[in-house]
Amino acid sequence: MYNTKIVAFESYLPPRVVTNEELSGMVDTNDEWIRTRTGVSERHVSVGETVSEMCVKVADGLLSKSGISAEEIDLIIVATITPDFATPNTACLIQKAIGAKNAFAFDMSAACSGFIYALSVADKYIKSGMCKNVMVFGAEVLSAMTDWSDRSSCILFADGAGGVIAQASEQCAGLIAEDLHSKGEDGLKLTGGAICIDTPFFDNDKEKQPYFKMDGRAIFSFATRNVPRSIECIIEKAGIAKTDIAHIVPHQANSRIVEAMAKKLDMPIEKFFINIQKTGNTSAASIPIALADMYGEGRLKTGDKIILTGFGGGLTWGSILLEL
Ligand code: UT7
Repeated sequence: MYNTKIVAFESYLPPRVVTNEELSGMVDTNDEWIRTRTGVSERHVSVGETVSEMCVKVADGLLSKSGISAEEIDLIIVATITPDFATPNTACLIQKAIGAKNAFAFDMSAACSGFIYALSVADKYIKSGMCKNVMVFGAEVLSAMTDWSDRSSCILFADGAGGVIAQASEQCAGLIAEDLHSKGEDGLKLTGGAICIDTPFFDNDKEKQPYFKMDGRAIFSFATRNVPRSIECIIEKAGIAKTDIAHIVPHQANSRIVEAMAKKLDMPIEKFFINIQKTGNTSAASIPIALADMYGEGRLKTGDKIILTGFGGGLTWGSILLEL
């Protein structure tokens, strides 16, 4: 029986940095409000780079770090809500760019839980014996779906890409436990990118809704209510203690959400990785970007048990307990 070992981590942030000061010149806000309410000091935004272009940079890094060739990749999964096209999917664009000619490739849409869902799917292909090397990405150009005149959301969202190579391993315990959920009944509390049906057969008089619309307070309380429960659930499923967990890597939605999670779980905040101050909220990209940062800082050690947890649009949420 094979398990899922993560053998490479990589991320890419577009070079254009937008500070809180810069946003203060665009909407009625200020650095102090943004930092104290969200934890964000600055964020990266695309000046034309698409999700697939960012992912190709991540993919190149993954291949060179792992020593795995593009032909050895069996599957490419991209979690994103901002693909370059509806078709071809982002994963096929990456496949072409890197020459992963033996892979099959598809995108997944689960907003800020996207990377968790995608890693869960990758794990099943690995456990079934169907795939040996799977590239899993989380990547977003949220700036394209952000209403830059809405101060309640434009201060939060940002762009970036991250990815891992998940490999079949007989040595590593891999994905030990998981807990995945959706609550479609509350989905309209966070929307974006609505398709507008306006054709010769149907004159649409509805207002177009390309941009994010979010009931921030509702999402905040949904996250602080459900995510700690999800983390407790996988710790219980695995039969381990909280002290056995080396790190919790949460979706970087808002640093206050992470602080509230730590408090509810009665776990030290130092166990929770936070890099939102420099990345903003990059939805599906935030967890793989955080993992690449942690790896780069030497914080991830072989044998560590870590928990990844994502939550957001859908509404969706989920947690994974991984042994590295
Ligand atoms: O990624 C997954 C999905 N998204 C999330 O997880 C986001 C979850 N929600 C949040 O992070 C927070 O709710 C926000 C950061 C979006 C908003 O923070 P908040 O503390 O919930 O603020 P609020 O919406 O309750 O607004 C408080 C006040 C309001 O003024 P009044 O009505 O009290 O006078 C807002 O108008 O702050 C005002 N406000 C701002 N003031 C300065 C809202 N945005 C801003 C702003 N600058 N940018």
